[in-house]
Amino acid sequence: MKLAGNVNKILYGGDYNPEQWPKEIWNEDMRLLTQAGVDVVSVNIFSWASLQKSDDVYDFSVLDEIINTVSTAGMKICLATSTAAHPAWMARKHPEILRVNTDGSKRKFGNRHNSCPNSSVYRLYAGKLARKLAQRYGKLENIVAWHISNEYGGYCYCDKCQDAFREWLKKRYKTLEALNEAWNTSFWGHNYHDWEDIVSPSHLGPEWGHHRPSTTCQIQSIDYRRFYSDSVLDCFLVEANALKEVVPHIPVTTNLMGTFWDLDYFKWGKHMDFIAWDNYPWPNCPYTRIAMNHALMRGCGDGKPFSLMEQTPSVTNWQPYNTLKRPGVMRLWSYQAVAHGSDTVMFFQMRRSRGCCEKFHGAIIDHCGHGNTRVFREVTQLGDELKKLGDSFLGSRFDSKAAVLYDWDNWWATTLSSGPTTDMNYPEEVYRYYEALAKQNYSVDIIGIDTSLDNYKILFAPLLYMVKPGYADKLKAFVNGGGILITTYFSGLADDRDLCTLEGYPGELRSLCGLWVEETDVLLPGKANGFVIGDGVLKGTWKAELLCDIIHPEGAQVVAAYESDFYAGTPVLCRNNFGKGQVWYFGARPQVELLDLFTKMICDESNVQPVFPVTEGIEATRRVKNGKEFTFVLNHNDTGTEVVIPFACCDLLSDKKFAANERFTIPVAGVLILA
Ligand code: GLA
Ligand code: ZN
Repeated sequence: MKLAGNVNKILYGGDYNPEQWPKEIWNEDMRLLTQAGVDVVSVNIFSWASLQKSDDVYDFSVLDEIINTVSTAGMKICLATSTAAHPAWMARKHPEILRVNTDGSKRKFGNRHNSCPNSSVYRLYAGKLARKLAQRYGKLENIVAWHISNEYGGYCYCDKCQDAFREWLKKRYKTLEALNEAWNTSFWGHNYHDWEDIVSPSHLGPEWGHHRPSTTCQIQSIDYRRFYSDSVLDCFLVEANALKEVVPHIPVTTNLMGTFWDLDYFKWGKHMDFIAWDNYPWPNCPYTRIAMNHALMRGCGDGKPFSLMEQTPSVTNWQPYNTLKRPGVMRLWSYQAVAHGSDTVMFFQMRRSRGCCEKFHGAIIDHCGHGNTRVFREVTQLGDELKKLGDSFLGSRFDSKAAVLYDWDNWWATTLSSGPTTDMNYPEEVYRYYEALAKQNYSVDIIGIDTSLDNYKILFAPLLYMVKPGYADKLKAFVNGGGILITTYFSGLADDRDLCTLEGYPGELRSLCGLWVEETDVLLPGKANGFVIGDGVLKGTWKAELLCDIIHPEGAQVVAAYESDFYAGTPVLCRNNFGKGQVWYFGARPQVELLDLFTKMICDESNVQPVFPVTEGIEATRRVKNGKEFTFVLNHNDTGTEVVIPFACCDLLSDKKFAANERFTIPVAGVLILA
């Protein structure tokens, strides 16, 4: 991550919305925020209505004053472009910018993320505003990055989007014949003879259901998601290009949201100068699930450091149950982000709003208006620590030998799939495999289809349902060269058109896995098949859950067989030698305890070591810079926990020196940064 200007520490701060307050308060904000150690603010996030009063009347006077105030206080700025919520007059005058819902109803003014990304008026005005901001503020030395729009997402089903969808399809398929083939349109007589007949897959057409969308034509619905992610990315690029044309040296970003359904962040990452993301875990979210989001975001930026752009200092307002972050947890989760590659710690927001739907959202400065609060004290302590840490590990990266594949097309395809079971939840399935590695303190990356496999020894590719062109060859080369590939049930079934393989499942992966899957059984909720492994590291009696592939080995070695049902005695877990490497195939979902043993076994076999000894609830990661290693150790337990520190080192936070194999009790929510 390369920020503009002189940045020599982990930047600390976040969203600052002084436009919601009388000016008399701003100086008090600066005093309190400086006291808390804040040195970067994201400003101008939702100010379009004040910046542009009509088609050609712009007014930057308030923003000038805000920028002047924060600059005088010595703060750096992440300058937003304000385009995530259009002004009311614009909606009245140019109703085409208003989105259309999936039920065909046209939206009215109100809310944010409410503009149609394919509206030329919206794009024109968004680009124009970005350019004006760049021209006016681009020379300021304290701008570290552009923050384009805010948390892009959502869909629109207006006619302009439908037209753009047709254009996108023409580019992808070139001819109607190709589209008809890809979409298998002879099914239910959906054949197209004219591009104009193709519609957006809304609830007026092939889709229904909100929480888990259903569709009669999976590929039409998948293509709409692909198209939509691209459309919104085009909007981002309209602004990014305008900014870059004026000030090429200031990096552009926008705040992403982890496992967020709407946008293919691996595609987005290629166009962002660095990844930024907003971390809002639900109460009781396992620390490894938060870790997975961090790893995914890092992966979308090709492993480079990213920015934790938002988190709450204390509480959210928009979840069903908004519990307080317990004392120390804000600090712990801030360091967790840093431990996974963030080079900033930022919050939403600096001062708590007085009205509207975020008035009960946590902030550094609460409604009481002073710094004598638990939250303010915790924020200040962390601010002091980040000053002390300086640039010691800024820019450092991971050096993982294990990776887990995440792929939006596969998420969309497995979720939109009609059958075999509605219990298939792609992010949570991927999480099972990620968790097994992360919990045991193996350094693990989450990577996309395009990520190079050169540096990895182990790759988990669960639910690799859709095998995109060239990917089977990439996997073959990886395994041939000695890599260990682990794949599972519901893999190798379709190509990128969602057309099923006719070569026998798992299709293109069949020779790699050394087996043929003839049928797949579904287990009812709470039901399981099982298998016994008689000896070795995996010895035990294990459950087989979710899906049960009925497998014929074709060269693969059978490690375990089902114990019940009509397919009792047939393989459930197989291992195939391929070139210098190996492929493991889980025909059914393994229980967590088996995965723990399994991941340890293959890591041992590949000589991949954990970065820190395993203790329950103790998370460890490693960042590396110029050959120097920084091991982060975090206590997520609700009691102090003793660990053995295996190497001689120094904790950068406390300056405490440790001898090799020294015992140490990490307090509740405690953190060590061992250099
Ligand atoms: C998101 C948005 C912010 C704010 C926070 C509240 O992350 O980007 O503007 O609404 O949620 O949690
Ligand atoms: Zn639209």
